[in-house]
Amino acid sequence: DWTNASVIDEQIDLIRQRVGSKNVICALSGGVDSSVAAALVHKAIGDQLTCVFVDHGLLRENEREQVETDYVNSIGVRLVTIDARERFLSELSGVVDPEHKRKIIGREFIRTFEAAAADLVLEAKDEGAEIGFLVQGTLYPDVVESGGGSGTANIKSHHNVGGLPDDITFDLIEPLRALFKDEVRAIGRELGVPDAIVSRQPFPGPGLGIRIIGEVTEDRLSILRRADAIARDELTKAGLDGEIWQCPVVLLADVRSVGVQGDGRTYGHPVVLRPVSSEDAMTADWTRVPYDVLSVISNRITNEVDDINRVVLDVTSKPPGTIEWE
Ligand code: XMP
Repeated sequence: DWTNASVIDEQIDLIRQRVGSKNVICALSGGVDSSVAAALVHKAIGDQLTCVFVDHGLLRENEREQVETDYVNSIGVRLVTIDARERFLSELSGVVDPEHKRKIIGREFIRTFEAAAADLVLEAKDEGAEIGFLVQGTLYPDVVESGGGSGTANIKSHHNVGGLPDDITFDLIEPLRALFKDEVRAIGRELGVPDAIVSRQPFPGPGLGIRIIGEVTEDRLSILRRADAIARDELTKAGLDGEIWQCPVVLLADVRSVGVQGDGRTYGHPVVLRPVSSEDAMTADWTRVPYDVLSVISNRITNEVDDINRVVLDVTSKPPGTIEWE
């Protein structure tokens, strides 16, 4: 498509002019925005870009592989993965309150990324190079939301990274600042970003951590990860990805109910299916998923996932219910 191609070419020129011979880092989340932004910057400056992917252990099944294997293979980007799973789990230990969880996850994410960035800056220095820029996948709606409409395009053009002296700041590269989500997806396809990433439904930064009602533990995460993968698999097979904005699967980890499975009585946990249809996530309606599809999902989850003996459906719109349970 010529318009996408010309947006890409124009951004590539701008990025090359700004960056010159300096190096650039990017925090890759596996989401659409950061993946497309990094692909665009990589196309402009190749290995002058290094991406950092933080595995906080709150990811869904295959997400790390999608980034480390599929994305890296198709884009050719240089990637550093930080395995921070233990750190996040230990910080979250004993924490039940939703806002407290969110604060911890956000704080630890920034700390982990900044420590990785500081290491990269020092490494580059040893090699006589300099990292001067940070890529962010800011979109036009984010610009408007944060009050920086047209005319104030440089409203947050610097970023300090903790762990480095105060006078080391990064200039921001935000190549998607003028674009809406669907335009970003189109550009991502043009750049060869894998479809599983480009077409991905929204997934919150705090990940599965805010879909476990109760304390986040490794066992609970692996239970939820399995149930979530089954639900997504069946909704996709049923052709519902276009109709559904997203379908959180929520583990009621502190609730137990009696069931009968195989030879006897069980006392397991329920999971909630929360399929919603929405335009912009500000309001949403619960999606009328066909009973047959719900039935397959319920059977598979209760058969295949240990400790889950009940599947329930959330039929609340937003408002009053938010999309996520926490
Ligand atoms: P709620 O639960 O507020 O969610 O109705 C609206 C949309 O935002 C997503 N969401 C988040 N995305 N970081 C994110 O990047 C977050 O902390 C976060 N919390 C909620 C949610 O998945 C839904 O699409």
